[in-house]
Amino acid sequence: MSYRTEYDHSMNDPEGFWRKQAEALEWFKFPQQILTRDADGIGYWFADGEMNTAYMALDHHVNNGRGDQLALIYDSPVTDSKARYTYAELTDAVARTAGMLADLGVVKGDRVIIYMPMIPEAVISMLAVARLGAIHSVVFGGFAPPELALRIDDATPKVILTASCGIEIKRIVEYKPLLDKAIELAQHKPQSCVVFQRAQCTASLIEGRDHEWTSLLAKAKPVGCTPVKGSDPLYILYTSGTTGKPKGVVRDNGGHAVALKYSMKAIYNVDPGDVYWASSDVGWVVGHSYIVYAPLLHGCTTIVYEGKPIMTPDAGALWRVCAEYGVKALFTAPTAFRAVKKEDPHALLMKHYDLSKLQIIFSAGERLDPPTEAWLSESSGKPVVDHWWQTETGWSITANLQGIEPMPIKSGSSTMPVPGFNVQILDENGQQVARGTQGFIALKLPLPPACLNRIWGDDKKFRESYLRLFHGYYATGDGGYIDDDGYVYVMGRVDDVINVAGHRLSTGEIEEVIAGHPAVAECAVIAHDDEIKGQVPLGLVVLKSGVTIDETELQQQLITRVRENIGAITCYKDTVILARLPKTRSGKTLRKTLCRIVNGQQYTVPSTIDDPGVILEIIETLRRKKFVA
Ligand code: COA
Ligand code: AMP
Repeated sequence: MSYRTEYDHSMNDPEGFWRKQAEALEWFKFPQQILTRDADGIGYWFADGEMNTAYMALDHHVNNGRGDQLALIYDSPVTDSKARYTYAELTDAVARTAGMLADLGVVKGDRVIIYMPMIPEAVISMLAVARLGAIHSVVFGGFAPPELALRIDDATPKVILTASCGIEIKRIVEYKPLLDKAIELAQHKPQSCVVFQRAQCTASLIEGRDHEWTSLLAKAKPVGCTPVKGSDPLYILYTSGTTGKPKGVVRDNGGHAVALKYSMKAIYNVDPGDVYWASSDVGWVVGHSYIVYAPLLHGCTTIVYEGKPIMTPDAGALWRVCAEYGVKALFTAPTAFRAVKKEDPHALLMKHYDLSKLQIIFSAGERLDPPTEAWLSESSGKPVVDHWWQTETGWSITANLQGIEPMPIKSGSSTMPVPGFNVQILDENGQQVARGTQGFIALKLPLPPACLNRIWGDDKKFRESYLRLFHGYYATGDGGYIDDDGYVYVMGRVDDVINVAGHRLSTGEIEEVIAGHPAVAECAVIAHDDEIKGQVPLGLVVLKSGVTIDETELQQQLITRVRENIGAITCYKDTVILARLPKTRSGKTLRKTLCRIVNGQQYTVPSTIDDPGVILEIIETLRRKKFVA
């Protein structure tokens, strides 16, 4: 099968193409409606099919002879522990946990927030919620209480599942006080919280609201799978937009299961029984799709890794796990490889391990920069494949389809559109640009299965955020170009979103937190290039008139503010006090110009600038602080 045949089939006959893919799954009632569209062209996939995602991912395999195969391996260098679950054991654990939730009154359609570290119980919780036909919303453990509170108010969960702590390299992060604070801040109060007590710390429980996981589970009976419609939501996952409030991306059960199952062979070229490892966190979309759902839907063995690529204990961690479990395909973010490269530039640690089973390495989360790609492919001798995707799509938009027709790798490109995605480069008027010309990357509607078709509780925001910019298209927020061979190059965000260590953050949200400091009159947060993390936020701050504060002291206070309001993963460190910010005559801060200056790129000063002199002033200040040469 050639890539072109496969792709053209998906474009010319989307319903036929995806009906065929849907047949690979065990439905309770096969869908009759493959694709329905609304007046704006938004697609709804498999709406009338009856199914349960957890059934497809677990019970189906047990019923078809895979019960004894390993489903999940837990490897935790930070606690020095390991565990293994067969499909039969994982199914049983999920059915009992679903029973525990049912005892707390969780029924189909209810929301359950999961705020947990990378332990098997996090994955079990997600599948247990899915088993009940309820909707999970996993909140990354690195988010601070106000961020968690926003999500609690938006998703209005009946139950919150958590653990007593997460373990970072240098510290234990107690989750329970963070959760208590978040519930205090939120308007909505969950009926119950269930706390998984870990050996490293014991959380105190609030009488009447909080329950101890193990004792509750001991009383629970396993429950079966609740049938849901293909169009019923499986989960809500919040992601940063351009405003302070995160957007709750809704993922439907049907399209999600079909697209993810298809992707495992088409993109990753893995088969049932293979070991597949996405080294991410269940709090991110990569974790949802490729730690939990896709590998299990496909009958693979997945790995839950509670550690880092470096320091747990060294920069050979990725290779150790690959060798120990016979990983066939590894997927992680470029920042992880850059961190490994910095610690072990000659990849000497890699040579300690037998990587003969590892066939391929996938990268996503940010553009795989050519030097990192070259280092990794040369030192590993394996193909290194970049693929581009977003929380909104749930799987990759462009990739090098290993199970269909592997293409020559072009450094800096995430290769070709994945079947189902009609990728176009548009100018600001929505016109397609010539090959090789940079523009806004947009996806022609309808989007393929798994992609979002709504934002939780805010349809208007969905249409305004993604559909208003280009009529008939979904605006990805990324910019880039397509070359003469059809290869797509994704060059970065065109909005106020930055990418820190593969984590998506809103500069607007960080600005809101900084602007709340009593000394700050206004500020601009911009992306500063970083050798390891790709980008880190830099705060350019103007003080209120008459206020004097030492810059180092202000910086420290702002670091604390950002950590307490958003979370340590923001990696906010640097603050520069400026006399004023560059603005257009209409008062808009020239963030793009500032960003180019700070990162040593060529910049032009727009003719609409209020006072061109401010730019020279700022360059002088940044030079003094050694931010620019
Ligand atoms: N809970 C609480 N805090 C967390 C956390 C979690 N789940 N995850 C990260 N943090 C904290 C870290 O402890 C750190 O805090 P510190 O500033 O007090 O040290 C901060 O958030 C930044 O974390 P991180 O970005 O992980 O930086 P690091 O210096 O600890 O590690 C890397 C650097 C490169 C090893 C790390 O960024 C990494 O593994 N990146 C890969 C990311 C990834 O897999 N992304 C997937 C997206 S596809
Ligand atoms: P998230 O929704 O957190 O997964 O972040 C999605 C954003 O990360 C995209 O819009 C891109 O800006 C960036 N991104 C992810 N993968 C890639 C990639 N392979 N190449 C370039 N950018 C990427």
